[in-house]
Amino acid sequence: MSVSKICCIGAGYVGGPTMAMIAHKCPNIDVKVVDINETRIAQWNSDTLPIYEPGLDEIVKGCRGKNLTFTTEIDAAIKEADMIFISVNTPTKTFGVGAGRAANLEYVEKCARRIAEVAEGHKIVVEKSTLPVRTAEAVKRILSNASNGSTFDVLSNPEFLAEGTAIEDLLDPDRVLIGGERKEAIQELVDVYAHWVPTDRILTTNLWSSELSKLTANAFLAQRVSSINAISALCEATEADVDEVAAAIGTDSRIGPKFLKASVGFGGSCFQKDILNLVYLCEYFGLPEVAQYWEQVVRMNDYQKERFVSRMVRTMFNTVSDKKIAIWGFAFKKDTNDTRESAAIYVVRDLLLEKARVCIYDPQVTKQQVIQELEYVLSEGDNGISPAKRELIDNHVTFASSCEEASSDAHAIAVLTEWDEFAEVDFGKIHDSMKKPAFVFDGRNRLKQKNLVDSGFEYHGIGF
Ligand code: UDX
Ligand code: UDX
Ligand code: ADP
Repeated sequence: MSVSKICCIGAGYVGGPTMAMIAHKCPNIDVKVVDINETRIAQWNSDTLPIYEPGLDEIVKGCRGKNLTFTTEIDAAIKEADMIFISVNTPTKTFGVGAGRAANLEYVEKCARRIAEVAEGHKIVVEKSTLPVRTAEAVKRILSNASNGSTFDVLSNPEFLAEGTAIEDLLDPDRVLIGGERKEAIQELVDVYAHWVPTDRILTTNLWSSELSKLTANAFLAQRVSSINAISALCEATEADVDEVAAAIGTDSRIGPKFLKASVGFGGSCFQKDILNLVYLCEYFGLPEVAQYWEQVVRMNDYQKERFVSRMVRTMFNTVSDKKIAIWGFAFKKDTNDTRESAAIYVVRDLLLEKARVCIYDPQVTKQQVIQELEYVLSEGDNGISPAKRELIDNHVTFASSCEEASSDAHAIAVLTEWDEFAEVDFGKIHDSMKKPAFVFDGRNRLKQKNLVDSGFEYHGIGF
């Protein structure tokens, strides 16, 4: 048997692009992406997709209405599919046991229950969401109680795409990882990817290795960023230059050059969540030393964000109160409109708590999204947001539609996302429009080569 109908539950940053690529590369497979969120499905069916991702529009528009469908008809799609991907969100739990660390598996479990309830015949269920190791055990148990006597194989197929480069990563992945038990079921999924991925890059493992590899990969990547960020603090104290140090160590083939860019801190929906999840798992399995080791990666990241703001305050004569600060970029990295766990959220929060006035410009992030993030981060648990904090959002946050507008009359610019367009502005003109001395705090070292000092700026980067 070969797969002819795929259903993917969850039309998010992972499910949407991944299924679009499968549809694009496998014209013989009918792909349905389903979601409970009607607005999101409507966006996938519109001219403005819910996700900004270079190259995604062309691929979606090429297959949509042919072998790629976005729909809220979840049960019908489950029923007719041979293979069902679960690609729903697995956020950090905010309540109960493991709050702040463990993954909230509510949505995954709900999907499994739904599949158990409506499926008929034999289905291959694929975990695409990042899950704690041993989750497949729970999924299998739920599926074993299927209403219609249907049978299942459960596979783990974690996604390694990074936002901003999702299409490139999907087209030419370093590897595709498939974990499973029954050889024939694994082969069905191998055959899907083999439409475009060389088979030597399709790795197969047991279920648990696959589940754990995803968490481990993200933990290692985040650890490299925290490691170089830790060294950036030492560089600032010693006149070493972190970019020079990174280049020097990166030439060692055992270390390698990637993921050594010092920054204001890593963000995104995965790194922090997955490490906290790993920490929780280690504690659960009675390994407190291992838990503490990994937790330090997240702590270092928090420290890096705090350090960025305290350096700004210290440099600007120990006060930013009532000073306008231009924020260039709010997304957690360039080429995405995603703001989940973006360093910008925490930097802006801390600047607001210092009573600064921030003016934000990001080419892809909406005002509404920024406000939502700030409301969340300034809320105090179940009590919501206090009147004083609400006042900060209402009266100390404004939005601009360009770098120039954000910076006009400002005391400082904080570069928080490395958007390419930020390097292309007229810095002389911007300097003229600002209060003096005009400071640039570059959280991405993106403008380092632009010699901003020649335009009159006082320039501070990360780690030099
Ligand atoms: C190290 C550095 O590699 C070298 O660049 C530096 O100049 C001196 O320190 P060395 O200590 O001689 O060299 O050996 P290395 O190959 O780095 O191994 C160090 C230890 O790590 C050994 O005990 C080795 O068995 C262990 N190791 C290394 C592992 O356990 N796993 C690995 O994957 C690699
Ligand atoms: C990450 C993993 O890379 C990907 O394999 C996994 O599937 C999901 O999580 P993503 O979060 O989309 O992808 O982006 P990534 O490029 O990994 O960047 C994460 C954060 O680290 C960003 O905030 C980025 O700015 C920061 N980063 C990355 C650095 O600060 N320095 C670096 O050298 C690399
Ligand atoms: P990711 O980055 O992992 O793709 P997202 O939050 O972008 O995560 O997407 C997850 C999607 O899964 C959301 O659009 C959400 O509405 C959807 N979802 C969550 N639970 C269910 C469910 N039980 N049935 C269908 N869709 C769901």
